[in-house]
Amino acid sequence: MNEQIKVRISEEEVNARIAEIAAQISEDFKGEEILAVGILRGGVYFCTELTKRITVPVILDFIEASSYGDGTQSCGQVKITKDLIEDIAGKNVIVVEDIVDTGRTLSLLLENLRKRNPKSLKLCTLLDKPERRVVEVPVDYNGFQIPNEFVVGYGMDYAQRYRNLPYIGVVEAE
Ligand code: IMP
Repeated sequence: MNEQIKVRISEEEVNARIAEIAAQISEDFKGEEILAVGILRGGVYFCTELTKRITVPVILDFIEASSYGDGTQSCGQVKITKDLIEDIAGKNVIVVEDIVDTGRTLSLLLENLRKRNPKSLKLCTLLDKPERRVVEVPVDYNGFQIPNEFVVGYGMDYAQRYRNLPYIGVVEAE
C-alpha cells in the first residue's frame, strides 16, 4: 500500500471524549432505558465503546445504510440495506454514527426512524464535518468537530481499510 496514516486524534483523546459523552447521555436519560442504534459499518466501534460506558440500561441494535462506494466521494444516494431487529416504538432511540459529512445518509435514516414512533430520537456522532453539510441534521451529541479532510480509523474506512485503527488518522500518499 502506498499510503501512510497520520494520527489526528489519539486513542487516549477519543476514549476520554467518549467517556464524557457517555456520562452526559447517562445523566440525560436517568431512570430511562436507551435503544442504541449503531450504524453499520462505520459506527460499530464508537457504538460499542460508547454503550460500554453508559450507566442506564441499554438495548443494542444495528442498521446499515449505504452512501459511499470505495472512494472518498458521496454518491448522493442512500438506502437501508440492513434493517433493525428491534421495534423502536415508544423507545428512547439514540442513533450512533461515526461521522456526519453531507448529512444525506442521516437525514434519510432519521426520517425513516421517526415514522416508527420512538419516544425520543437523538443523534450521537463521534465526528462532525460541518463545512461539508448539504442537508441539515440535528446533532445532539458530538465528539469532535473536524475540518474538511478525509479521516480513517475508529470504524471509518478508506476502501474498507483502516476501520480497526484505535485512533483517528488522515491518509497521506507516500
Ligand atoms: P454523509 O451522508 O455524507 O453525511 O455520509 C456519512 C457517511 O459517509 C459516514 O457514515 C461515513 O461512512 C462516510 N464518510 C464521510 N466522511 C468520511 C471520512 O472522512 N472518512 C471515512 N468515511 C467518511
